[in-house]
Amino acid sequence: MKTAVRYFSRGGSTETIAKAIARELREKAETTAAPIEKKVDVLFLGSGVYAGHIDGHVKEFIQNLDRNKVGKVAFFCTSVLDPGGRDKEVRRLLEQKDIPMDTRTFHCKGKFFFVYSSHPDNKDKLDAAIFAKKIAKL
Ligand SMILES: Cc1cc2nc3c(=O)[nH]c(=O)nc-3n(C[C@H](O)[C@H](O)[C@H](O)COP(=O)(O)O)c2cc1C
Repeated sequence: MKTAVRYFSRGGSTETIAKAIARELREKAETTAAPIEKKVDVLFLGSGVYAGHIDGHVKEFIQNLDRNKVGKVAFFCTSVLDPGGRDKEVRRLLEQKDIPMDTRTFHCKGKFFFVYSSHPDNKDKLDAAIFAKKIAKL
């Protein structure tokens, strides 16, 4: 199964999770500045939550995706108090592109100044790797 990992991270938490997922998949975690050039079965796509939304770079990245190059998207997210809340936003954007989204998504706490400063922790990284493994059927 061909996979790719893309993320946008302002403070590093989503990047930490992207790297844990990429390590499991033996892929490189790249930011949304890197377009999907070759067809993939699963695109793991991540964002932090900012003022109740995913980052604009991730929205733009989805809007620029080529539906013929992406089998489906598996969304992952870090936030302080929004577990699962952004799934619908991402699903709606993907529907507009006719790209399926896996019903399984990954969420964990991210650090926000002094709040949850130990997150993502080792358990979060392990959980993210298990999420990737299940979806990529490794
Ligand atoms: C400007 C700003 C706005 C944020 N707004 C929210 C929010 O609305 N809901 C929430 O749960 N977390 C919010 N957070 C917390 C981030 O989602 C959290 O710290 C996340 O892990 C950031 O990911 P990153 O480190 O990859 O940028 C906000 C953080 C920042 C910096």
